[in-house]
Amino acid sequence: MTKKKRILTGDRPTGRMHIGHYVGSLKNRVRLQDEYECFFIVADLHTLTTAPEKEKIAKLSENVREMVLDYLAVGIDPQKSVIYLQSQVPEVAYLSLLFSMLITVPRCQRVPTLKEVMRDLQIKQPSLGLLTYPVLQAADILMVRADLVPVGKDQESHVEVTREIARKFNSEFGEVFPEPEPLIGEVPTLVGTDGKAKMSKSLGNCIYLSDDEKTVREKVMNMYTDPTRIHPTDPGHVEGNPVFIYHDAFNPNKEEVEDLKNRYREGRVGDIEVKEKLAEALNEFLDPIRKRRTGLESEPELVEEILKEGSKRARKEAAETLKLVKEAMGLEYF
Ligand code: TRP
Repeated sequence: MTKKKRILTGDRPTGRMHIGHYVGSLKNRVRLQDEYECFFIVADLHTLTTAPEKEKIAKLSENVREMVLDYLAVGIDPQKSVIYLQSQVPEVAYLSLLFSMLITVPRCQRVPTLKEVMRDLQIKQPSLGLLTYPVLQAADILMVRADLVPVGKDQESHVEVTREIARKFNSEFGEVFPEPEPLIGEVPTLVGTDGKAKMSKSLGNCIYLSDDEKTVREKVMNMYTDPTRIHPTDPGHVEGNPVFIYHDAFNPNKEEVEDLKNRYREGRVGDIEVKEKLAEALNEFLDPIRKRRTGLESEPELVEEILKEGSKRARKEAAETLKLVKEAMGLEYF
């Protein structure tokens, strides 16, 4: 039997996850865990790059807990995969320090996500930590010597930095790291309930995996649809219409979806019926996830235990990598 390839991916803990996270990454991770050896990182240190304030840090434990509960509820299985907390693996900081010597400041300045974050959060000058965000991410990935990194398109430039650092290290000090490949999801970003390009907590246009039935229904009934359509008898636009994007993503009854689309185009169905059927489909999809989550929530130490175990496992990997790195660099000279 050949050894399973290794995957590392994860998220910054920003709290509860939404259905956009599900189609964009979680669904894929659940599938990948059988075929690969998976490490899922909860990247809490990365949140400090833009929010190094005491009040924000105080929210981390709750955000980590909510996120891990969502991981578990959708079917990420700690028996199969390693779920770990970045800050519980301090070796990553050491590796990040060593990597920071192998990349120039202008190279970090050219990473496109830096400009985007600075623009979105109105940051005039990046902290050194924000500038080296991709270097820390490279340390996450190379610390477990991952072969594959499933991420969204927005993270591609960080995997490129990781590959450059791996190449540079290997050519200077000898082959220690695989050059990890990004696995870019082909699923387009899920639009928000307001029709904006992206579901995002700060825009308040999300349907959360843990939203109850009534909330889901309300959010769906208030969704943005086709602004050019005033009456149910007006021919409507299906393409790019958030209600139909969600139907395509979450309604398993393809016949129903096709029928609704046809009638919508011909002006033979009202938004209300389309939305009611969507709310039903979404609730059917979310129901087992919510049930599992409620069960897990009642086990008070569960998330802590899983992270403790996972971090122990990740730390073992980290210690081995660091040893190889120091040996290769000639840093173990006493
Ligand atoms: N930067 C990633 C994000 O914001 C989170 C992350 C941190 C990550 N370390 C990683 C993703 C390592 C993949 C691999 O989504």
